[in-house]
Amino acid sequence: MSALSQIESLIGEMTLPEKLGQLTMTAAGYAVTGPIIAGDSTEAIKAGTIGNLLNMVGAEHVHEMQRLAVEESRLHIPLLIGYDVVHGHRTVFPVPLAEAGLFDPRVWELTAREAATEAAADGIAMAFAPMLDVARDPRWGRGIEGPGEDPFVGARFAEAKVRGFQGRDLSAPDAIASVAKHYCAYGAVTAGRDYGSVDVSERALREIYLPPFEAAIAAGAVSVMPAFTDIAGVPMTANVRMLQGWLRERLKFSGVIVTDYNAIAELMRHGIAADLPEAAALALAAGVDIDMMSDAYRRGLPIALERGLVNIAQVDAAVRRVLALKLRLGLFADPYRRGATSETAVTLAARRRLAREVASRAIVMLTNPGDVLPLSAALNSLAVIGPLADSSIDMRGPWWGASAEVGHVTVLEGLRASLPGLSIQYSAGVAIDSVDVSGIDAAVDLCRTAQAVILCVGESAAMSGEAACRAHLDLPGRQRDLCEAVLKRAKSHRIPVIVVLFSGRPLIVPWLTEGADAVLAAWFLGSEAGNAVADIVTGRISPGGRTAVSWPRALGQVPIYFGDRPGGRPENPKDRYTSQYLDVPNSPQFPFGHGLTYGRFRLANLRVTPDRAGEGDTIEVRVDVANEGARSAEETVFLFSHDKVASVSRPVLELKGFAKIALAPSENGTVTMRLPAVALRFLGIDLEPVFEPGEVEILVGPCADRSQLLVATINLTP
Ligand code: GLC
Repeated sequence: MSALSQIESLIGEMTLPEKLGQLTMTAAGYAVTGPIIAGDSTEAIKAGTIGNLLNMVGAEHVHEMQRLAVEESRLHIPLLIGYDVVHGHRTVFPVPLAEAGLFDPRVWELTAREAATEAAADGIAMAFAPMLDVARDPRWGRGIEGPGEDPFVGARFAEAKVRGFQGRDLSAPDAIASVAKHYCAYGAVTAGRDYGSVDVSERALREIYLPPFEAAIAAGAVSVMPAFTDIAGVPMTANVRMLQGWLRERLKFSGVIVTDYNAIAELMRHGIAADLPEAAALALAAGVDIDMMSDAYRRGLPIALERGLVNIAQVDAAVRRVLALKLRLGLFADPYRRGATSETAVTLAARRRLAREVASRAIVMLTNPGDVLPLSAALNSLAVIGPLADSSIDMRGPWWGASAEVGHVTVLEGLRASLPGLSIQYSAGVAIDSVDVSGIDAAVDLCRTAQAVILCVGESAAMSGEAACRAHLDLPGRQRDLCEAVLKRAKSHRIPVIVVLFSGRPLIVPWLTEGADAVLAAWFLGSEAGNAVADIVTGRISPGGRTAVSWPRALGQVPIYFGDRPGGRPENPKDRYTSQYLDVPNSPQFPFGHGLTYGRFRLANLRVTPDRAGEGDTIEVRVDVANEGARSAEETVFLFSHDKVASVSRPVLELKGFAKIALAPSENGTVTMRLPAVALRFLGIDLEPVFEPGEVEILVGPCADRSQLLVATINLTP
């Protein structure tokens, strides 16, 4: 029997409750690690009126639930079980915003592959990931879950993650369905407040927020999750134009649309549905297949059908897509395939090694003006201070998957393991968000005998991610008191202070970045955090991470990003009547792509050939790179374009490529990037892609700071 006929035959046999069960996902009532809010689902699974679960981990539990569905229900349809596998499952990798800063699609894919293997071993068949929301407002807590501020990076990140999660064969025992989320423009919430309304132009949608989702679907993503939010008053969960229109008709997406948590019921709070049947009907009509957690489909659609708000053909179309996905995942062929084999100690150890390598490469060295890093090998005493110096649970960051609260290497543990001969004293000083400053004196006192201080401060893992917005982007609690006291005492003892900043967003702490002798942005690095920090501060590895977001000088600059349009009066400090502030420059404290290394890289001799290119040509961009420093390091080189005169005002910089080159001291190399001229198309006045003749600047350099970029010009020809 063909897959299609198997599905049609099943649909032909299914009762309405069984159909609606396939369109329902609920948290199992089992001993799971997530919140149990739906009570016990076992009876419904046996009755075939629940077809999908979330927040369940453990092959034993999953197989028990699968057995109920497959052996005890009437139609033996296997369950689809999903989990938030955002940056690892049991082994935690750096949070996505940190990993994006590697600018290395190979690694992005590799960590997703490893996470999929771990999740599948737990019986999971769907990851609610990758999160692809372009984010330019650090007040919003969820920027940490995604690839940063740029749509080009978001698109490359999307492709890599989908490939990693789904592998080459979706039915393989270590393959899991990817869910491109949260569709879309969730990162543009009003005032950076989670779940807030979104109102962006159609051009912004097309140019900024949609590209990562288009890339995910082109890469084969089999599911999409609409955002909680509305766009201009139309909630995404009921957005016919964006779901049926853009996704299904224009992008030809035939996969499963699964809502966010309780999102259908929340259409009533949005004020576009008077009751649950109306909410359910709006979602179904928009193309939503699976109702996560609101039970709106099971309880609302029978009434909506009676009222004639929807018809059974729409229900069947959704059931068809869900069954097709379960078939593609191999769940009918073998519902116990995922979790059939447990992982070996060898694979787990290899995964931890990968986690350490990725974490080391994710660390961004923001400042190191006096080259106090790497620490001198002659050092024999260290003070490790701060509330994030020995907090295993916080090293995971938000969305920590099914990982334990312990076992994630802290900075103190990593340093002690890497420097066994050193005297390393530790004091937390203050708690992360406490007002108690009684521990500061003891912490400061460590400076007396130390030859250097590692000061670990920042946010807790719970201060970013979902429902974690902040209106002040400084250090929480009384950490500033601790830092200022340590900096003052360290200066009096002439010892360097290296700050390790853990955060889910760029923190606005110019007093700290200017006062410390070196600052490492560690974001949240996962299970091997402490070893990674030790690798960098000891010089075992050179820092190479870059920031995938612009780092504001002041909150008043937000939203801040490099791809802004020039406007008619671009910033000119010499002319008051131009676009600028009275009190800070427009530029960020650290630009997109910023990150120092232990090398000293110089770029020169930019060559762009040919100098005239038609749409079908490939432009070759070459630049020479020299490491004039005393240590090996890896440089990241970015390729931007700027269309100086076009039918629509174009951003001052558009990212079109990036590449990396590792060089030993005094070594030279050449980076070559090939840019299809078609990539210089843009959306014309009518929002349709155009390729316009004329001069375009090609800019190459280490970050999105035009003063650091080499510039060449190419002529596009019709
Ligand atoms: C949450 C998040 C979403 C997640 C889902 C399931 O509310 O918005 O990203 O995948 O619910 O946990």
